[in-house]
Amino acid sequence: MSRKPHAGPLRPARIDFSDPLAPLAPEFGDVYHSRAGALPQSRHVFLGANGLPGRWAGREEFVILETGFGLGNNFLATWDAWRQDPARCQRLVFISIEKHPLQGEDLQRAHAGSELAELAAALHAAWPPLTPDLHRLSFEGGRVQLLLCLGDARAWLRELVAEVDAFYLDGFNPKQNPEMWDAYLLKALGRLAAPGASAGTWSVAPQVREGLAAAGFQVERQRGFANKGGMCVARYAPRHQPQKPAGRLALAPGARRALVIGAGLAGAACAWALAQRGIHSTVIDEHAAPAQASSGNPGGLFHGTLNPDDGVHARFNRAAALETERVLREHGAALPWLQQGLLRLETRLTLAQMQAQLARLGLPPNYVKALDTAAAAELSGLALQHPAWLYPGGGALPPPAWVAHLLAESGAQLRLGHQVAQLRQAADGGWQAWDEEKTLIAEAPLLVLAGGHRAQALLQALAPDLPLPLLQLRGQLSHVPELPAALNTRTRPRLPVAGLGYAIADTAQGLWCGATSQDGDLDPDLREADHARNLAQFSELAGLTPDDGPLQAQGGRVGWRMATADRLPLVGGLPVLGDGALPDQLRFLPRRPGLAVCMGMGSRGISWAALCAQVLAAQVTGAPLPLEASLVEAIDPARFALRQQRAKG
Ligand SMILES: Cc1cc2nc3c(=O)[nH]c(=O)nc-3n(C[C@H](O)[C@H](O)[C@H](O)COP(=O)(O)OP(=O)(O)OC[C@H]3O[C@@H](n4cnc5c(N)ncnc54)[C@H](O)[C@@H]3O)c2cc1C
Ligand SMILES: C[S@@+](CC[C@H](N)C(=O)[O-])C[C@H]1O[C@@H](n2cnc3c(N)ncnc32)[C@H](O)[C@@H]1O
Repeated sequence: MSRKPHAGPLRPARIDFSDPLAPLAPEFGDVYHSRAGALPQSRHVFLGANGLPGRWAGREEFVILETGFGLGNNFLATWDAWRQDPARCQRLVFISIEKHPLQGEDLQRAHAGSELAELAAALHAAWPPLTPDLHRLSFEGGRVQLLLCLGDARAWLRELVAEVDAFYLDGFNPKQNPEMWDAYLLKALGRLAAPGASAGTWSVAPQVREGLAAAGFQVERQRGFANKGGMCVARYAPRHQPQKPAGRLALAPGARRALVIGAGLAGAACAWALAQRGIHSTVIDEHAAPAQASSGNPGGLFHGTLNPDDGVHARFNRAAALETERVLREHGAALPWLQQGLLRLETRLTLAQMQAQLARLGLPPNYVKALDTAAAAELSGLALQHPAWLYPGGGALPPPAWVAHLLAESGAQLRLGHQVAQLRQAADGGWQAWDEEKTLIAEAPLLVLAGGHRAQALLQALAPDLPLPLLQLRGQLSHVPELPAALNTRTRPRLPVAGLGYAIADTAQGLWCGATSQDGDLDPDLREADHARNLAQFSELAGLTPDDGPLQAQGGRVGWRMATADRLPLVGGLPVLGDGALPDQLRFLPRRPGLAVCMGMGSRGISWAALCAQVLAAQVTGAPLPLEASLVEAIDPARFALRQQRAKG
């Protein structure tokens, strides 16, 4: 679980643009593309060697993997070819790995005057903060996806879960950059290759040809681009096609309809992500409207996190927060209110220690910044007593509006006011949801359980022997509808603040403070003691003194968070547990067909739901996973079973 796709901070590219025809990477002593033209080179070598656009014609999905994203010319040329092609595949997934990504301004500079200016501008607009993660950039309404893996190619190839149809091998020259072409790296391509996969590169160096052949490719030399004598064209034809591990097989290949239990953040996000892959959902909820349980809070926060060793929690939360930020950028205007930017107080570290931590991790300021107390106070408008982390892409939003938006985007059919009492699998493998009166509510080939804490019994009935350490955490929010006039400007945060509890300004004159957390407490009523606790925390956060007088809560909201013991969600297929020992790796553990769960959103459903849903939808269809394998395993519903087996020795 400790393996990471990138050790140490990312170093962005340093580019010498003095020759406008061929930008140079001085560190590698090589140019990014031929002087005879980047796009013509892409079309001849990478599209040409891989038989594109012809090979994607009529396909539902086509997957390309590139080593070395560089300036992104290969991606732009491929996207352009896809756009121009009337026979294009339904969805194009372009995975690219880059150790030294460009800063946004260099990307813009590299494409100034490009013949593909419109596409280059869209790429620039979607360019992510340079963190060592897998960034899912979405274009053409989700039909073109760029999975940008920032870090070293060797490490990322181990972490990718994908079946690749075409490889673009575009590291710098093997002489200057042998690590991008060695036998180990090329062998890793074989593990990812779909039957009949192809590969292309401008390099005809013996180590490349021999490495590809050793990895199971049949290699041919063809006419190269411009003054290049040759290029490599390869086709994957191994003696034995490797078997896909049982735990990574698509959960419902070919399914076109899904039954989603739960119309909260998790269920709505799953319906949205499935719709992007052509799967239509029927969403069932016991309430008369969506987002009435945990997801019914008037406002909530979303943001990343960081910890000194950049462990699994920090990486997962960062990936999820960045995905949410990207999706909101695409859809945000449709929400009634959305605050962008969030402060998280730091009560243990000094500013110098915070800055040292950021420098060590190499996290960029458009993801997180360390602010001193005065700057944080100035930004929030509160008399804060601590330095703070500023997450510029974090913020606050109203979950019910977000749920409504995702459901509308998904085109899902809603079956509201139906409580599912039983889930049954029919003889044909399809799933049925039945109510208390033994009436069938709906059925579909794929079942997605996304019912939050209210669906724990359904989950346990589906997987009675699966160890699932779950918590139900009661939480109470307190509403202060109107602040004393003297306090208004000092206590209504200009942007959401978290740390000692949290505070969000409401859309009128007041604010929401949260939140308590009590495990196993089923009391549905608002409690004065909990209000007092929330307001005391807020008073401390806002630097209020007894002279400022007491704040009065009027109303609030109680809800329950379903969390797991390791504070990560449950996303993916449920395992088939036989009588014997389990395999020692999650990827070898077979899953029940047609069934997936998206639960355990804990206190972070707003930040997590979009990424979890994208992972689930990819697992359902067998598409490339938009999250690295080590994190997919960290949220696998079967992880506790394996941990239990290991603990028993
Ligand atoms: C006080 C409080 C403050 C919070 N603050 C934040 C925050 O600031 N940021 C953040 O990210 N998260 C926050 N959370 C957590 C967040 O609200 C949850 O993580 C999220 O709402 C969970 O979404 P969900 O879709 O999994 O569950 P839910 O929203 O509970 O949705 C599940 C739905 O499924 C339905 N259902 C279940 N079983 C059945 C059945 N058998 N038949 C029919 N329908 C069924 C339920 O009734 C429900 O409507 C907070 C939670 C609380 C309680
Ligand atoms: C020739 S350029 C790629 C050009 C690019 N495909 C394009 O279309 O613009 C080679 C790229 O490989 C990257 N690179 C070099 N070594 C790497 C490694 N070990 N892992 C990942 N990327 C690497 C470089 O930073 C550089 O951006």
